[in-house]
Amino acid sequence: MRDGSPANVTRLADYLPPAYLVPRTHLDVDIRDGHTLVTATLTLERNPARDDRPEDLVLDGEHLELLSLSLDGAALPASRYREADGRLTVFSVPERFELTSVVRIEPEKNTALEGLYRSNGMYCTQCEAEGFRRITWFPDRPDVLSRFTTTVRADREHYPLLLSNGNPVASGEESEGDGQGGRHWVTWEDPFPKPCYLFALVAGDLACLKDTFTTASGRQVALHLYAEHRDLDKLDHAMVSLKKAMAWDERVYGREYDLDIFQIVAVSHFNMGAMENKGLNIFNTACVLAHPATTTDAAFERVESVVAHEYFHNWSGNRVTCRDWFQLSLKEGFTVFRDQEFSSDMNSRAVVRVENVNFLVNHQFPEDQGPLAHPVRPAQYQKIDNFYTLTVYEKGAEVVRMQHELLGAEDFRRATDLYFERFDGQAVTCDDFVTCMEEVSGRDLSGFKRWYSQAGTPIVRAEDTYVDGLYSLTLSQHTPATPGQADKQPLMIPVKLALLDPRGKPLALNDQGDTETVVILERATQTFSFPLPVKPTPSLLRGFSAPVILRYDFDETQLQTLLAHDSDGFCRWDAAQRLYFSALSRIIEQGESAEQQLERLRPALEGVIRRAAEDPAQAALLLTLPTETAIGDRHAPLDPARVHRAAHAFKVALGRALDEDWRRLAESLREPEYRADGDAMGKRRLRMLALSYLGLAKADGIADDLQRTFRDASCMTEEIGALGILVSNGLDGAETALEQFAERWRDEALVMDQWFAVQAAVPGPATVARVKALMSHPDFEWTLPNRVRALIGTLVNGNPSAFHAEDGSGHRLFAEALKTLDAINPQIAARLGNGAARLDRLREDLSTSLRTALSEVREGASANLAEVLDRILGA
Ligand code: PHE
Ligand code: ZN
Repeated sequence: MRDGSPANVTRLADYLPPAYLVPRTHLDVDIRDGHTLVTATLTLERNPARDDRPEDLVLDGEHLELLSLSLDGAALPASRYREADGRLTVFSVPERFELTSVVRIEPEKNTALEGLYRSNGMYCTQCEAEGFRRITWFPDRPDVLSRFTTTVRADREHYPLLLSNGNPVASGEESEGDGQGGRHWVTWEDPFPKPCYLFALVAGDLACLKDTFTTASGRQVALHLYAEHRDLDKLDHAMVSLKKAMAWDERVYGREYDLDIFQIVAVSHFNMGAMENKGLNIFNTACVLAHPATTTDAAFERVESVVAHEYFHNWSGNRVTCRDWFQLSLKEGFTVFRDQEFSSDMNSRAVVRVENVNFLVNHQFPEDQGPLAHPVRPAQYQKIDNFYTLTVYEKGAEVVRMQHELLGAEDFRRATDLYFERFDGQAVTCDDFVTCMEEVSGRDLSGFKRWYSQAGTPIVRAEDTYVDGLYSLTLSQHTPATPGQADKQPLMIPVKLALLDPRGKPLALNDQGDTETVVILERATQTFSFPLPVKPTPSLLRGFSAPVILRYDFDETQLQTLLAHDSDGFCRWDAAQRLYFSALSRIIEQGESAEQQLERLRPALEGVIRRAAEDPAQAALLLTLPTETAIGDRHAPLDPARVHRAAHAFKVALGRALDEDWRRLAESLREPEYRADGDAMGKRRLRMLALSYLGLAKADGIADDLQRTFRDASCMTEEIGALGILVSNGLDGAETALEQFAERWRDEALVMDQWFAVQAAVPGPATVARVKALMSHPDFEWTLPNRVRALIGTLVNGNPSAFHAEDGSGHRLFAEALKTLDAINPQIAARLGNGAARLDRLREDLSTSLRTALSEVREGASANLAEVLDRILGA
């Protein structure tokens, strides 16, 4: 049977509780040169919840060499068990028993980065979602919770540090006669029952930054952050972020940390951002290391939010976990909502909200409208790894946010208190979460639950009339069909709104004088009326109150009013986006000139610049054009070269027309010395944006200015920012700067990632050849996911006019990369494969070229990659 055939589909509807429970697990992990021996002793008992009384025990395992198996201390003869297709079936087992297996694994050969593997000389694990089965035989599913005791053994000289979940309880030297001297061991005990996907182990020689945190109830928690010795000076920001997150979760959710020690380990080779293993988080170096000299401001912000995200999982994910992987958003959507709120409280709320919405709209919306669309709670999957998606994470967070809005902060808190209390130590469902919201608020949310099961981005159309002092707003909703879901039902959509007078002041909406309200659209069409003294400009979907596409026929004056006066940060930004999109459409569809379009927008943009000092970060957001990908998504068929010409012409016009403003900003926002606070970050952001418009316009003297900024940079934000502008515009000195940069930073992997990314981001078909050459660069490594994402990911996901080069070279390079990668790391290959999801939207010749390239890859693809390609190719 071929991978990806329907027999490999797992369905939510088929869920059955586990046949056996595993109250206790003892692991002994003996790390040797070239292989590792894992002895697992599981205490098993039949699950009373399964009244069909299954007699056989079935365990999961992959890439394991079974050396021995015994039941209650007696070795099992081969006739008592069968090993096949990743399953170990032990026949006719008793009600309660102990099973001990010894397996041999080869972490050194593990390039998939799931299970136990090696990264830069250390050993580490990644078990979510189904990696634990690569370590030992186990019921590898999130609803089997076990108390783990783990002994790790290794050579003391190379692996002085041996970590696992929970608290260290014993350690010692190994005395053995096999000539392998200097070995030691440490035993860790995790008092909290957990699913095996939260298991972790690390063995290595690492530097440690130590601190402590005193919880609200006065317990002292040791905080240990580990990285390679050379990176010790890059851990301070993560430590500060961690302590802020711990305090925030106590204050906002009443959640305290529950072990005596919390550890984070930074790892270079990692498939995702980070992992919330109980008491032992493992992080991609890119999401934990930070230093002004090597790390951009954006990456500093990411570290703060990812550290918080993983920490928050201790309650939303670990103490209360998921019944099955269909419920993934139960922990991820909720935890993303929590980390977004944390970031909003630590930084500028308006800026964080616009950044989060911008990300959702630019990345999750396209996913939800393409061949990979699926509900927040999918009903089926082939490889669960492919469902760590923007829909589960980001749309899932919006679904939790809407419940927060519907209930209000106080009831929402009462509902989460109930949720944590009722389900502590259990594996539960998204429905269980919503039920708590219903019980506390007394609201019927059955209609709301459709947000979890129905895929696709709803379109809300707004139309209005103003007659005899009555303003009537008619809202109608429609969700287009998605693969496998043709018919859609109306959803419960909260629309927050205000109505502005001609001077942009919000009008009173009722006798109490409220100027903002939330209307709930539940049916296909509903009308809401407000008596008003004048015809208003509607400020709709304030704060992006629901993840929908809003269609309303704004006229240009209304948009300028919103941009200039609206108090809602999202609506201001949205108005700017609408102005940009319509100007670009006129260039693309009507062939109007960029200069002409710019003149229409000029007064509005000058208004934003005039107020830039109030909040430079927000001004930067308002003055940033939509990406070429986002512009392309508004035009059918997708023609990336044409989109690039229009976007580029418009940006050049913007650079030229406001030349003086950009120069003034670039000069006045320069800071005498580096500061790390939000104010300084906002200024740097606007300053780099001003420089980029000057670079695009090839303004007089800008190459020199940028070379100087590059050379005298006070931090990486300026250094890489200047380099990127030089390179993407082919300005004088660009190639020299690239060489100098590589020379300076050759030993800093995360900086070199940025060096690769900057080059892959240069628009236009010539970049394909450059990326191809860089694939043979001595520092390019297929086994390093960050590097692959930096080079190939940037080309495929961030550079449409190069990826879809007319000669098909980008498509061929993509296919080649997928093949190479799939043999090394199928998860990363599948993720990169998502980059082809716009295939059917492309101009026909481009679509054919991409299809041809991908069809070839489909032959012999891994199960992970095959699932993605089949959906995209429509197989
Ligand atoms: N659970 C991780 C998170 O916090 C993501 C992850 C999934 C990491 C799978 C590794 C593997 O979002
Ligand atoms: Zn998460």
